[in-house]
Amino acid sequence: MPDFRKLTTVSELPASGEAREFTIDGHQLCIANESGKCFALDNFCAHRGGPLGQGVVDQGKIVCPWHGWQFDLTSGKSEQSATLGVEVYELKIEGDDVLVKI
Ligand code: FES
Repeated sequence: MPDFRKLTTVSELPASGEAREFTIDGHQLCIANESGKCFALDNFCAHRGGPLGQGVVDQGKIVCPWHGWQFDLTSGKSEQSATLGVEVYELKIEGDDVLVKI
């Protein structure tokens, strides 16, 4: 059963409009910052496995750096496919710790 686990600290989070890759127990995550609020998604793009954490944030979506597919930060759904999407995870901040439910 998923539980909140420490991923990183607040100071390591990406700046607003940016994303960054993190690894927890061999699982790669994309943490994206939209106007100061951070979201956690699988790092591997559902199209061909591009690194979403190296993409940019645009109007509530993370844009894959390889071919530009966009994934909603809250649902993980893509406008480019009705069936392909990425998993999203709950993220919360406690003090200086960033926790992800995984
Ligand atoms: S691998 Fe992400 S858009 Fe193609």
